[in-house]
Amino acid sequence: MAEESVPALRWEELPEGPVVVLLDQTRLPAEEVELVCTDVPALVDAIQSLAVRGAPLLGIAGGYGVALAAARGFDVADAAEQLARARPTAVNLAYGARRVEAAHQAASRAGSDSGRAAAQALAEARTLHREDAEASDRIAEHGIALLDELVPGGGLRILTHCNTGRLVSGGHGTALGIVRAVHRAGELRRLWVDETRPLLQGARLTAYEAAREGMTYSVLADGAAGSLFAAGEVDAVVVGADRIAADGSVANKVGTYSLAVLAGHHGVPFLVAAPVTTMDPQTESGDDIEVEQRPGHEVTEIPWGRGTGGSPEPTGGIPLAPVGAQAYNPAFDVTPPELVTAVVTDRGVASPVTAENIAVLCSASRRG
Ligand code: MRU
Repeated sequence: MAEESVPALRWEELPEGPVVVLLDQTRLPAEEVELVCTDVPALVDAIQSLAVRGAPLLGIAGGYGVALAAARGFDVADAAEQLARARPTAVNLAYGARRVEAAHQAASRAGSDSGRAAAQALAEARTLHREDAEASDRIAEHGIALLDELVPGGGLRILTHCNTGRLVSGGHGTALGIVRAVHRAGELRRLWVDETRPLLQGARLTAYEAAREGMTYSVLADGAAGSLFAAGEVDAVVVGADRIAADGSVANKVGTYSLAVLAGHHGVPFLVAAPVTTMDPQTESGDDIEVEQRPGHEVTEIPWGRGTGGSPEPTGGIPLAPVGAQAYNPAFDVTPPELVTAVVTDRGVASPVTAENIAVLCSASRRG
């Protein structure tokens, strides 16, 4: 039985002014605590500490952040700039911030006073939020149809990485939205949940969502995935994306590339699910994607609890490595298109993943 969930992000009008309220994802699954952002620096901090995270939700947060600046009389252009730059890899963040900034500018240029321009910015943020919810539904429809074709017969064992469900979306999410649809159709045998080191978005967040949906799932250490493929226990891999370049290269949570190599070696379909807002035709290839590097202490200390991210300094957590150990901590990696069976979007599927097929989906999005 699915349980009611606290929304990942909402706009609220308080007597002292509007606020953006976030479900603090650094505190899950232990506690459901909301974080109230009254200004853009607070929201930027929440983005950098991963209290709010995941490509589509970052876009929504960026949009509401600009609307918040407009409603509270702050400099909207400066707010959009700060938000767009808060994290570099997920293209949705800049997309959401810039889109709402453009709506505000258009209203101002058309002669609206500051109150009306702010209302226009908020309306645009709400539209973005609603569109993302609708995109989730369409991704799930395309994804379940494709899985039916690629792995007929149901009883699927799906492996996923990071967290791509309700916690990152206006709706049911991308990759996890597809898994949810498979589960609701009675066709999910097991969800394999990569724990997703170092910040454990799989173990903490995907498992939390899977449990609330009543799915049968198991959490595994990322390094255990190879033996799972070798044992023939994976029918399909379904993951999300932070940015998809024009050539179909996919930036997603670090560890995704290793899964794609494993899936290719074992002949298992490897699906990437994302709204078209995650496609970036301006970024030509995987080499052009900026991969966020995060502080080493996320790897060298036990990473959960308050202040897991954002701080460049160690957080005083339990050490996992000798004091002074250096660390390599990219937040994402890039999977080349030839390792991706299909990119599943709200506007259809690109398969094979070629620049031409990606361009078709991008132009469909511009027309739509
Ligand atoms: O660092 P995070 O937690 O923001 O990374 C999130 C991911 O990599 C997700 O897989 C991606 O944003 C897709 S979410 C639908």
